[in-house]
Amino acid sequence: MIEKLKYLFQYLFHLLKVRSKYRIHSPFVYNFTKYILNNNTQYPDYEQIEKVRKDLLSRARFIKRIDLGARSISFPYSQRFVRVRDIARKSSVTPKKGQFLYKLVKHYKPRSVIELGTAFGISSMYMAMGYRNCHIYTVEGCTDTLYIATHNFSRMGLGNIEEICGDFDIVLPGIFKKCKTVDLVFFDGNHKKEATLRYFDECLKHIQNNTIFVIDDIHWSKGMKSAWENIRQHPSVSVSIDLFTVGVVFFRKELSKEDFILRF
Ligand SMILES: C[S@@+](CC[C@H](N)C(=O)[O-])C[C@H]1O[C@@H](n2cnc3c(N)ncnc32)[C@H](O)[C@@H]1O
Repeated sequence: MIEKLKYLFQYLFHLLKVRSKYRIHSPFVYNFTKYILNNNTQYPDYEQIEKVRKDLLSRARFIKRIDLGARSISFPYSQRFVRVRDIARKSSVTPKKGQFLYKLVKHYKPRSVIELGTAFGISSMYMAMGYRNCHIYTVEGCTDTLYIATHNFSRMGLGNIEEICGDFDIVLPGIFKKCKTVDLVFFDGNHKKEATLRYFDECLKHIQNNTIFVIDDIHWSKGMKSAWENIRQHPSVSVSIDLFTVGVVFFRKELSKEDFILRF
């Protein structure tokens, strides 16, 4: 409860620092707000994906949950058997964040996407349907969880998602053998500072000028805040955008270094 209140307070503080669109002088970031944050189109794909979520939320069956990530407040490690509906409720991206990812890929059209943390594949589906020409490598450490995600992908007829089961640290080098450079990385698992920075460094070796990194839960803990500070100040990062629940960084050399806090 105290943690939740603290988070809410931080969010209110974040809102005070938000930059209005009239104070965005960078045309690149202006377009980001126009085509992504302020694009309220209700794409029919959203409804399809939310139907899958609804189905997951109705499943009372237990699965064996192995979480290789940060000890979650909602699921302590000791709780090994978890209901599908509880995982779907607590781990999947919200519709708002899913739609954000959808619009992001729709606008920037990344060909190769890496997602660290599949869970039941809600965010993977948003990205796979937002830009059907992308190829998504999605990584999940929990076999039973990934099994359900795989079923969801085939149910939606999505052939552009490649599921990989394993620890991020172990499978990442293998992914980079297949795709030499990555256009978009969504970091959504193992929310620990050291781990996040390690994945960041590994993926950084494979970026090109237009690569985008999206880091989830950048204000979730002290460690994640510190990881975000390190990332946004990294010399390779040109533009960083703090949306509170998610952070986005760009590496485009033509952009001057600037940090934005925007309303999401
Ligand atoms: C927040 S959930 C991902 C949610 C998913 N992106 C979505 O929105 O639908 C994070 C997932 O990452 C997995 N995970 C965490 N750390 C991992 C690691 N080191 N290696 C592999 N999987 C990991 C967890 O098992 C969990 O299912």
